[in-house]
Amino acid sequence: MDMTVRPRRLRGNDTIRRMVRETRMDKASLIYPMFVREGSGIREEIPSMEGQYRYSVDCMGFELERLMDAGVKSVMFFGIPDHKDEVGSGAYDENGIVQRALREARKQFPDLYLITDVCMCEYTSHGHCGLLCGHDVDNDSTLELLAKTALSHVEAGADMVAPSDMMDGRVAAIRRMLDQAGHTGTPIMSYAVKYASAFYGPFREAAGSAPAFGDRKSYQMDFHNSREGIREALLDVEEGADIIMVKPALAYLDVIREVRNVVNTPVAAYSVSGEYAMIKAAAKLGYIEEERIIGEMAVGAYRAGADIYLTYFAKEIAKLMEEGRIG
Ligand code: PBG
Repeated sequence: MDMTVRPRRLRGNDTIRRMVRETRMDKASLIYPMFVREGSGIREEIPSMEGQYRYSVDCMGFELERLMDAGVKSVMFFGIPDHKDEVGSGAYDENGIVQRALREARKQFPDLYLITDVCMCEYTSHGHCGLLCGHDVDNDSTLELLAKTALSHVEAGADMVAPSDMMDGRVAAIRRMLDQAGHTGTPIMSYAVKYASAFYGPFREAAGSAPAFGDRKSYQMDFHNSREGIREALLDVEEGADIIMVKPALAYLDVIREVRNVVNTPVAAYSVSGEYAMIKAAAKLGYIEEERIIGEMAVGAYRAGADIYLTYFAKEIAKLMEEGRIG
């Protein structure tokens, strides 16, 4: 056979395959999202997210230690308050659940990098991501509360804040308030390109944050659009975002790639609760090999252009990297 080019030459054994690998990953780029709740002595499994738990502040230390042992050095906290009201006051209460979790984690684990999700939906009685005006979320009056929330997180010990609400102008509002308070060095990771997605279903059960009426389509993006995602990303960079996130990850790899090509900040991809739940469910039925799927999906996100990967499988992925099965 007269054939000079044979791609298989570079696939002959594991050594050569690893030599020519195009995507290389590092545990340092993993972020683990974690649910903290009110109460004490609680570690309750989330029914739709087998293997994931809601922790009361006194019980989260053990899990944080296991994460750090696995090589995952960054977490993102989501708070589950006992009390909800119209204006989501628990979000910016200095003794709110996230604020207390931050102080405790900061004390116990000075080296752990603490990120917080900044949003109102877990704290509002109506479950929307901001203040209501009639049946819609009012953009501009929500900005002040988001900025207050971010500031209270930073003052409680957050290293980075991550607004996920999708209000226009929130990165600028948060940046301004943090700077005025002297926190000029605290980065903002913006959920800049966040789609209105059914993949968040299990999360909303986990956090009790499903909207009481309607949906989030008037603020989260329409999944038919990718140019609009670039617009959102560039806008947030202009407003001062330090990291741009695309969310979800699995069905949006094209968007990750396009955003990667136009922004000069790091890009994060969030593999969300529905992605986690699908893998868990299919693996339980014996239809897929869980570990291999987890690894393949993670590599896919990085190959698409993600620099940072947020995933409920952070510990498992760190292990796969450690064993040299991906990476
Ligand atoms: C808060 C928020 C959500 C998620 C992250 N931050 C839910 C939503 O927008 O409805 C989803 C995370 C996941 O599904 O894993 N707004």
